[in-house]
Amino acid sequence: MKLLVINGPNLNMLGIREPDIYGTKNFKALEAFIWSSAEELDLEVTLFQSNHEGEIVDVIQSAYGAYDGIVINPAAYTHTSVAILDALKAVGIPTVEVHLSDINNRDEFRKFSYVSLVAKKTICGLGFEGYRKALEWFAEQK
Ligand code: DQA
Repeated sequence: MKLLVINGPNLNMLGIREPDIYGTKNFKALEAFIWSSAEELDLEVTLFQSNHEGEIVDVIQSAYGAYDGIVINPAAYTHTSVAILDALKAVGIPTVEVHLSDINNRDEFRKFSYVSLVAKKTICGLGFEGYRKALEWFAEQK
């Protein structure tokens, strides 16, 4: 099973960025965690990170016919991007949404997620472990 893991804006700043919320481990550590989780679950993953909405739309479009699933942490675009929602709807690839923090217990504006409208599952508040849970969800569909 081939999965595309997409991380949105500012996630490349993990470790530096608001460590009280997002933890002290950096983005490289997150990537290593995802790689090792995928290996354990016998899943093939491609990792992609961008700070640009259009690039995320492009990578979702290019996943059409090439990937069996998408794991996405759209970061701030979660709460704003109809374009990312539409791209996910356009390709029709099963998607699991992940957030490091618990978006339901933070600012009011973080409670709404466009991506949740299309996601098969949303996992939040579990830190890195949320990505493993997302991969496990796909492994269970095999
Ligand atoms: C986030 C939560 C978003 O509200 C925020 O804008 C992020 C990260 C998370 O992983 O907890 O950048 O998606």
